[in-house]
Amino acid sequence: MSERIEDIANRMVAEGKGILAADESTGTIKKRFDSIGVVSTEESRRDYREMLFRSEAMAETISGVILYDETLRQKAADGTKLVKLIEAAGAVPGIKVDQGAKPLALSSGEKITEGLTGLRERLAEYHELGARFAKWRAVITIDGPRPSWNCVKANAHALARYAALCQEAGIVPIVEPEVLMDGDKARHGIERCYDVTLWTLNTVFSELFDAGVVLEGIVLKPNMVVPGQHSGEKASVEQVAEKTIRCLKSAVPAAVPGIAFLSGGQSDEEATAHLSAMNAIDDVPWKLTFSYGRALQAAALQAWSGKAENVAAGQRAFNHRARMNALAATGNWSEAEEKQAA
Ligand code: 13P
Repeated sequence: MSERIEDIANRMVAEGKGILAADESTGTIKKRFDSIGVVSTEESRRDYREMLFRSEAMAETISGVILYDETLRQKAADGTKLVKLIEAAGAVPGIKVDQGAKPLALSSGEKITEGLTGLRERLAEYHELGARFAKWRAVITIDGPRPSWNCVKANAHALARYAALCQEAGIVPIVEPEVLMDGDKARHGIERCYDVTLWTLNTVFSELFDAGVVLEGIVLKPNMVVPGQHSGEKASVEQVAEKTIRCLKSAVPAAVPGIAFLSGGQSDEEATAHLSAMNAIDDVPWKLTFSYGRALQAAALQAWSGKAENVAAGQRAFNHRARMNALAATGNWSEAEEKQAA
């Protein structure tokens, strides 16, 4: 019998663990590899991801891994399916199913995430291949008076249609409405991020309700409430934690089992510190953990640099970052821990 989506969702937000976002599209992983001077091929992508999935910290700290289509089908150098490595570490394999954020028609600079056509059939195949959760990322850009209501509504509606299709297929949807903090235009302060994030989340939960999505069987993946990267405004760790929790409490029903944040361009240590500070706040109805891409992988990617002889160094870097974030997932990270373990 298939595992209930509520049970899968609970495993994804298990105490002291979090999600590794390793679902960079072929275009995005090429950019990451360009930064370390490595040519992106099917084999180099496989080698890099195999290094991560065989890391010691996987079993201790990682509850789920988000994969890209290619990786879900790939085998390790010794012929073992990469999905099996993930399962062997006790983590749930997941799959990115959106087909990217495309220009929203008649709305300059705004994006709508596509990928609903044929999604029912793709989900059935992904389930066969071992995926038990999925991810769909909507992108909301703050730019002067934008986002428009049309952009927020269209993205929230697409997220709800995706989430319903996932649950029909026995797959937990990660619902990811990302209000961007990076990019040249992100000149907004923390208050504007708060307002737009609250508006977006309220719209998303209204659409999820209309679509009949079971909230106990989703994981929310939001941005934190932070000042835009180019705003010149600085916010303390405590301010980010307090505003993010206040915003989430106003918009996210307690029926949702867990919230797994994206890192969105924060530095590794900022992303960890913010998560830990949020977990130190009492009286929060959901698990709060990480679903980081860049903030979990940046150091490992550098240490590896595409060389077989650096695999152990890459794994050490990954182990360290994953352990720091696992501490943050229970509110127990500190700068002292960071220095001691480094
Ligand atoms: P970042 O943590 O790098 O923002 O990536 C998470 C993710 O999965 C974005 O969709």
